[in-house]
Amino acid sequence: MFRSVARSAVGKHLLRRGYGTVSLPDRKVAILGAAGGIGQPLALLMKLNPLVSQLALYDIANTPGVAADVSHINSRSEVTGYVGEDQLGQALEGCDVVIIPAGVPRKPGMTRDDLFNINAGIVKGLCSAIAKYCPHALVNMISNPVNSTVPIAAEVFKKAGTYDERKLFGVTTLDVVRAKTFYAGKSKANVADVNVPVVGGHAGITILPLFSQATPKANLPEDVIKALTKRTQDGGTEVVEAKAGKGSATLSMAYAGAVFADSILKGLHGVPDVVECAFVQSTVTELPFFASKVRLGKNGVEEVLGLGPLSEYEKEGLESLKPELKASIEKGIKFANQS
Ligand code: NAD
Ligand code: LMR
Repeated sequence: MFRSVARSAVGKHLLRRGYGTVSLPDRKVAILGAAGGIGQPLALLMKLNPLVSQLALYDIANTPGVAADVSHINSRSEVTGYVGEDQLGQALEGCDVVIIPAGVPRKPGMTRDDLFNINAGIVKGLCSAIAKYCPHALVNMISNPVNSTVPIAAEVFKKAGTYDERKLFGVTTLDVVRAKTFYAGKSKANVADVNVPVVGGHAGITILPLFSQATPKANLPEDVIKALTKRTQDGGTEVVEAKAGKGSATLSMAYAGAVFADSILKGLHGVPDVVECAFVQSTVTELPFFASKVRLGKNGVEEVLGLGPLSEYEKEGLESLKPELKASIEKGIKFANQS
C-alpha cells in the first residue's frame, strides 16, 4: 500500500520530508468497532498511514487497551480510544473519514443476511451519531450485510438531512483482493500487476468479478473462469468455514479496508485518477445501489464508472444477481424507515 503512496505525488513529498512533514493537511479518521477482529488490525494499518493525523478508536468495550497499544507506534497520527456510547460523539467530532466494522460476524451455515437482525440496529445507531457529530465525513461501511447496511445508512442520513451520495461507500475491496489473488494463481501473472473489477454487491452471487476485463490478459478457458468466479463469490464462506465458529475474515479484511481508506484519503488530498470498486448510489443499472469502479476525489465519489463490455457469462451473472440485490436493498430501506 505505501509503495504506491511513494510513487504518487503525495509519496514523493513524503519521501523528501519524512513522516514528520507539517504540510500534509490534518485528517481525522475514526474506526467504529475498533476492538474487534477487523478493527484491531485495521487500527494498526491506519496508524501506519501518513495521510492520517488523528485516529479515533471507538468500540463498546476494550478500546483503551487497543488505543494504548497502537499509540506507541512511531508514526504521524495521534491515537485516542473511546469506549461506550457516552464517548461516541467525541470520537466522531471533526472526522473526515469514518470506517465501520462494528457488528457480529458469521458462523458456519449462516448467510450474511442472517446478521441483519443484529447489525442493522447497530449500523442505524452509529449512522445517527455520524449525522449529528460529523455530517460531512466520508463513511466506509464494512459491517454486513453490506447490501442492506449501506441503504440503511443512506436512509438515516436522508432523514437527518445530511445525505450526500458521494460520501457513502460499501467496502467491497476484499472481493477485489480475492479476485486478484485467485486470478494470479491461475494465470501465473505477477499478483502485484493484476487488476480485476468486481461489481454488483457483497454477498454470494451478487459478487460479480469481471474476469473478461482482468489484466494482464490470460485467455483462461471458460471452466477456469467459472471456477474463479465461484471461488470469489464464496471467498467469505471459505474463511468462515476454515475458522470453524471463530468468526469471518479479519486480517484480509483489515488489509482491504486499509487499501480502500488509503484511496479515499488520496482522493481527499487531490491525487488524480484514484479508482476503486465500491458499493455506492448508482445509475449503472436500474438498482439504486450497485458496486462498480468509482473515481474518487476531494468530495468522495467524483464519477461512478460504467461496467464496460461484459462476456455472455457475466451478462447472465448480472441478470441473476439483480433480484437478490434488489431485495437486500429494499430490506435495508424498509428497516431504516420503521419506527
Ligand atoms: P468482531 O465480533 O470481531 O468485532 C466486532 C466489533 O464490533 C466488536 O469489538 C464489538 O464490540 C463491536 N461492536 C458491536 N456493537 C457495536 C456498537 N454499537 N458500536 C461500536 N462497536 C460495536 O467482528 P469482525 O470479525 O470484526 O466483523 C465485523 C463486521 O464486519 C461483521 O459484520 C462482518 O460480517 C463484517 N465483515 C465485512 C467484510 C466486508 O468485506 N465488507 C469482510 C469481513 C467482515
Ligand atoms: C467476507 O467476504 O469475508 C465477509 O463478508 C465476511 C463473511 O461473512 O463472509
